[in-house]
Amino acid sequence: MDKIVVLDFGSQYSHLICRRIREFSVYAELVPFDISLEELKKINPKGVIFAGGPASVYNVDSPKPQNGIFDLGLPVLGICYGHQLIVNNFGGKVKRANKEYGSSSLTVDNDSDLFSGMGKSIRAWMSHGDAAEKIPSGFEIIGHTENSYAAAIANKQKLIYGIQFHPEVVHTERGTEILKNFVINICHAKQDWTIENFIESTVKEISKVDGNVLCGISGGIDSTVAALLIQKAIGKRLKCVFVDNGLLRLNEENEVEEMFKNNFAVNFTRIDAKESFLSKLKGIKDPEQKRMIVGEQFIQIFTEFTEKNGPFKWLAQGTLYPDVIESGVSKGPAAVIKTHHNVGGLPSWLNMQVLEPLRFLYKDEVRKVAKALGVPDKLSNRHPFPGPGLAVRIIGEVTPEKLQICKLASKIVEDELMEAGWYDKVWQAYAAVGDDRAVGVVGDERKYGHIVIVRVVNSIDAMTADWTRLPPEVLERISNRITNEIDGAAWVSYVISSKPPATIEPQ
Ligand code: XMP
Repeated sequence: MDKIVVLDFGSQYSHLICRRIREFSVYAELVPFDISLEELKKINPKGVIFAGGPASVYNVDSPKPQNGIFDLGLPVLGICYGHQLIVNNFGGKVKRANKEYGSSSLTVDNDSDLFSGMGKSIRAWMSHGDAAEKIPSGFEIIGHTENSYAAAIANKQKLIYGIQFHPEVVHTERGTEILKNFVINICHAKQDWTIENFIESTVKEISKVDGNVLCGISGGIDSTVAALLIQKAIGKRLKCVFVDNGLLRLNEENEVEEMFKNNFAVNFTRIDAKESFLSKLKGIKDPEQKRMIVGEQFIQIFTEFTEKNGPFKWLAQGTLYPDVIESGVSKGPAAVIKTHHNVGGLPSWLNMQVLEPLRFLYKDEVRKVAKALGVPDKLSNRHPFPGPGLAVRIIGEVTPEKLQICKLASKIVEDELMEAGWYDKVWQAYAAVGDDRAVGVVGDERKYGHIVIVRVVNSIDAMTADWTRLPPEVLERISNRITNEIDGAAWVSYVISSKPPATIEPQ
């Protein structure tokens, strides 16, 4: 597979460059800016992109790539800070300029390669405080804006390009085409990053794993896809464990088991641990304590399972690329099989190595892999669900009554959103319940029941979220059904707090 390497100098947009490149089927990987030349050669990229960053090149301690990176003979594209690094490295001059933030008109001075097909000008998104004052010899200006006379430069002999603006953000007109011109026409990378290739190469890589692999199944798409890839590679040496903790959505425990048993030839064990989870949670009101208890109980059950069914050399996890990058675990070019202990709170005495087949994928790519592996759409499209389950959606103590209200009401919320065509448009939709009660009236009788809290949010990445402006008719149907169909529910409230300052889950 042909690869493009993106050097991360700390810009919030670095990730987006990889996303955009993968969109046109070339594999791109984000690596630390100071990756050694040996490691870079091991990756064997077709080209290198220097991403942006907050530093100024003339500060002594500003991040710089390794000496010799330009001598590898690889095409290089510098973006924003990366552009300034190129100017500085080849003897040009970068100066502090007037801050330029937002959309500018870039005049194309040369459209022979990087800007091929761009026409005379494009809108380009700028976000910088430094600018090239003098360009290095051997370079020519291929684009300028009113404030940046050298907003785009090229050394066509060495195939080194620098652009002051950000082609990866949507505000830059035809930005993806600029990246495509660099990756396809200048680096000559093949467009061979397809889901089929990913599956084939990942399965091949996982086949090298020796010993048995344990995979915890949550019912979510990530752990399911991870398990299916491993199963394809090592068959029965993979054992999947699904813990029914009693805190799942209505009937989810059966749906997950049926899906695995009916669709996949995976070695699958369902452990009924409802009693142990619920008894440990009895009397506990504090949200953090509840989370801790659920976490500890999972570990307890996994430990018992490994003692009875082990030894297991590997623990599979459905970790995705953004988690790898955000947790800082990524130390340059890692293999699919990464050996590190004690990840995600695993006790070190379990002494298992971690297998993360999805560690280079984004969520939408996982969905595509799921489709290719035959995972039913119903699972692929289901909303995310927190690890500690309904324990975080029940405010105060988890009691059988509140648990039942929460499950039934959430099912009504999901069903009504599906019916109204809203389910796939929102990030999450559920009902929560606490100890607050209110008076209602049913027929001639007074009913003193729970206040059910309905939460529906829009979000792109769960870091921020906005409450969903559902049509009043949909809200009305949800409310009517909850109060009519659920005995213990008297009132329904709808949450209109966004994140921040609120969070998506109540606990
Ligand atoms: P908050 O409530 O922090 O949630 O706004 C953000 C997203 O994360 C999910 N969430 C969790 N997922 N384990 C998980 O796997 C957890 O402990 C957990 N807590 C929250 C939540 O559903 C939302 O999508």
